[in-house]
Amino acid sequence: MHKKINIAIDGYSGCGKSTLAKALAKKLKYIYIDSGAMYRAITYLLLKEGIYPEDTPNIDRILSEMDMHFKQEGFIDQLYLNGVHLEKELRTMEVNNMVSQYSTISNIRTQLVRIQKQQAVRKGCVMDGRDIGTVVLKDAELKLFLVCDMDIRVARRKKELEEKEIFATFETVKTNFIERDLIDSTREDSPLQQASDAILIDNSMLSPDELLNKALDLAFKVINN
Ligand code: DC
Repeated sequence: MHKKINIAIDGYSGCGKSTLAKALAKKLKYIYIDSGAMYRAITYLLLKEGIYPEDTPNIDRILSEMDMHFKQEGFIDQLYLNGVHLEKELRTMEVNNMVSQYSTISNIRTQLVRIQKQQAVRKGCVMDGRDIGTVVLKDAELKLFLVCDMDIRVARRKKELEEKEIFATFETVKTNFIERDLIDSTREDSPLQQASDAILIDNSMLSPDELLNKALDLAFKVINN
């Protein structure tokens, strides 16, 4: 029986983190946890309720009332918020445009980080996000930090969105990435940064399989050590 490890994957928006994380989890028979989906779910709920980022009392109320939990389906921990499985609702441009702003709010981060840590206690998790290697899974046995050329990121994301029947122009997707990168990497509370022990991978010229094989090699080095 191989030992189980936790794998943290961080990086800017659209660098291929979730595609890699899902494929890694499937190959290793681990569980994939999408921390970004949790920030998106809160954003979706707050927008639906008409609660804006400066409305601290109502945000605190929603956080104290909400039930966010996961149900394991295959190798993915599917997110349920107040009993509803959210997926397509989380990927709209409305959510894209606001998620980074809500993600700067410390009370939101504290609540979500607590849930993320609980999910990873069992080991054998692949979690992707912005602060996984630096805050959530500081002791992850393998940490990866993905980067990718901006135009390649945009083209790949545009195609992904189209597959979900969400249509946005190249410029709209690019502007959203630029804005989110800036907010995510400059916020006060747990900004996006490469952990000192994370391995940097440039995903610009790699196919999904090439990236997966690179990450698998790194994972097996740790697992078999
Ligand atoms: O990974 P994603 O694009 O689905 O993440 C959406 C947003 O959520 C991202 O722009 C910032 C926020 N986020 C975060 O602040 N911390 C994380 N660990 C994951 C996501």
